[in-house]
Amino acid sequence: MGGVAGAARGRTGRLSLPGAWERPEVRRDPGRSIRDYEPADEGAWLRCRVLGLLGTTCYDDVWPAKRRADLELVATDGDVTGVLDVSVPGAEATIETVVVHPDHRGLGIATALLAEAVARLERCGVRGIDAWAREDAPALAWFARNGFVEECRYLQVYASPAEVGTALTAKHGLEPVGAFLHARIERETEMRQRFERVHVCRRMVRGLGP
Ligand SMILES: CC(C)(COP(=O)(O)OP(=O)(O)OC[C@H]1O[C@@H](n2cnc3c(N)ncnc32)[C@H](O)[C@@H]1OP(=O)(O)O)[C@@H](O)C(=O)NCCC(=O)NCCS
Repeated sequence: MGGVAGAARGRTGRLSLPGAWERPEVRRDPGRSIRDYEPADEGAWLRCRVLGLLGTTCYDDVWPAKRRADLELVATDGDVTGVLDVSVPGAEATIETVVVHPDHRGLGIATALLAEAVARLERCGVRGIDAWAREDAPALAWFARNGFVEECRYLQVYASPAEVGTALTAKHGLEPVGAFLHARIERETEMRQRFERVHVCRRMVRGLGP
């Protein structure tokens, strides 16, 4: 680990981004605050994430425990209404999670979370941020409104028990009963003919800095 982000790592090995300790809570409006995630938020964080993903193509991406990230922000109004996790392995950052509770959409929460993250990342010298998005229209519109552009795309394929035999054979007495697979975008027509659940996954990128 080198560079600006590496130099910012503290004794715990996790990234200590300026702002996390200087400004633990940032008021955006009277009813909403954005602050760093705390371990006590875990239950509310997981509920916000799973409810937020329910109506999306990621409906079955359920986590039983929070995965830690370098920069972890939450929006709260007493309960957690939005979450943003960013990994910062070097000069480029990646949004790992951006989810707003369904009852709190369209209020600018995700935009405010991103603005706070971008300000901190830019102070650390991070030069770009990316995220992976499927075909969920609200998410794609939000990324576009916030300056992200599509850089590339590929296919994610879920093979059902009925379909998986056409794609895989297993060894050692194992029998495949489903699979999650990636494929090149050029094979989209063929994949959609062969498999019922196919997603286009896009890499969305945005430059940071002056
Ligand atoms: C994508 C998502 C995070 C956006 O969250 P949000 O808090 O509703 O987003 P915002 O309120 O910041 O912006 C949404 C819209 O609200 C409107 N809005 C209303 N008040 C606003 C304000 N004060 N500031 C900014 N935007 C505001 C904007 O016009 C914006 O329009 P858009 O759809 O063209 O972008 C949310 O829809 C979500 O959680 N989706 C499910 C999870 C998901 O798909 N995440 C992406 C991972 S791939």
